[in-house]
Amino acid sequence: MRPDPTEMQPIKIDPKWYRQVLGQYPTGVCVVTARNDRAEPIAMVVGSFTSVSLDPPLIAFFPDRGSSSWAKLRGCDAFCVNIMAADQEDVCRKLASKDPDKFVGVAHRLSPRGNPVLEDVVAWIECERYSITDAGDHEMVLGQVLELDIAGTGLPLLFFQGGYGRFSHPEPVAAPPEQTQRAGTDMDLDKRLQRLEARAAINDRVVDYFLAADGDDLDGVAASFTESASFRSSGALVASGRQGIADFIRGARRQMGLTVHTPHYVHLTFDGDDAAAGLVGAHLELAFGDATLFGAVRYVDRYVREEGQWLISARDMRVIHMAPWLEVGTAFASATPVRWIGAPPAASDFPRKPTI
Ligand SMILES: Cc1cc2nc3c(=O)[nH]c(=O)nc-3n(C[C@H](O)[C@H](O)[C@H](O)COP(=O)(O)O)c2cc1C
Repeated sequence: MRPDPTEMQPIKIDPKWYRQVLGQYPTGVCVVTARNDRAEPIAMVVGSFTSVSLDPPLIAFFPDRGSSSWAKLRGCDAFCVNIMAADQEDVCRKLASKDPDKFVGVAHRLSPRGNPVLEDVVAWIECERYSITDAGDHEMVLGQVLELDIAGTGLPLLFFQGGYGRFSHPEPVAAPPEQTQRAGTDMDLDKRLQRLEARAAINDRVVDYFLAADGDDLDGVAASFTESASFRSSGALVASGRQGIADFIRGARRQMGLTVHTPHYVHLTFDGDDAAAGLVGAHLELAFGDATLFGAVRYVDRYVREEGQWLISARDMRVIHMAPWLEVGTAFASATPVRWIGAPPAASDFPRKPTI
């Protein structure tokens, strides 16, 4: 029979020792955000974030009952968990402070449901409150996931033994080879060579896709993707599956004349030997009826190695700016630099300033 928790006698533990022992366990760092009923952004830094369930999709975090930030968040029906990047220690320190104006100057945009998504985070997960349960001097908050996205390819910020940190060893997150060499690590030569070959193969894959798209080679387009790949545009799913993506590109190309995709860089972060995340920076020139569109985009990609071939398993085209050539000069400097023909002017997918 399991013991009744209400009758269990807690053992006495020195709080300092307790924190010291539990501090041996590293965590990531998240900022839970929402807006109060005056529409002001509110935030709390938590290390106790964890994923809980896939079906239904649930996450959890554990706020201190005494936290004034939690007191403000507790009444919100929905919130956004922002997974902080390794170079965002300053933002975390600011948001973990007791400053009543701690959100001032923290760049963010609003999710479609109106929760702050901080700029330059690794990923964000928007949730609605599922339950709040007693957990001693803390509470356990479960959130049901409504929407989530990987926002960048950077490494996450870590917290360990009371201090902030980041991954520095190439495994298991596999830093790029130049970092590996600087650190003088023992990643053996074969493995480093294999990583370099993988980098070259992914770069070729990225270029092959653009050449195929520009050359109306729809078989080549299809061959760039895995069987179950997804294709998004500004975060919205527009096609899935190898054939679905080729059909989508065929449809898009029917509206266009000459197109030139010019990728400038592919930033890769490996996730083991057979998977990688990539950020591709590219310029696009697209003939659209009588007009020529010009713009800059970034593709947020995932790649996997299948039967020795690197393929794109997920791609999200994010637009920095895009406008008919003659409008580019003014559109670029405006709040709505994305001007697809036939669509209303829109903000950039990579805003540099807060939108509120
Ligand atoms: C890296 C880090 C992780 C934290 N994790 C938690 C947490 O999981 N739960 C919690 O209640 N507070 C956590 N805190 C503390 C809160 O963010 C916040 O600083 C504290 O609640 C400040 O008190 P206030 O909310 O009354 O301003 C963490 C702070 C830092 C810097």
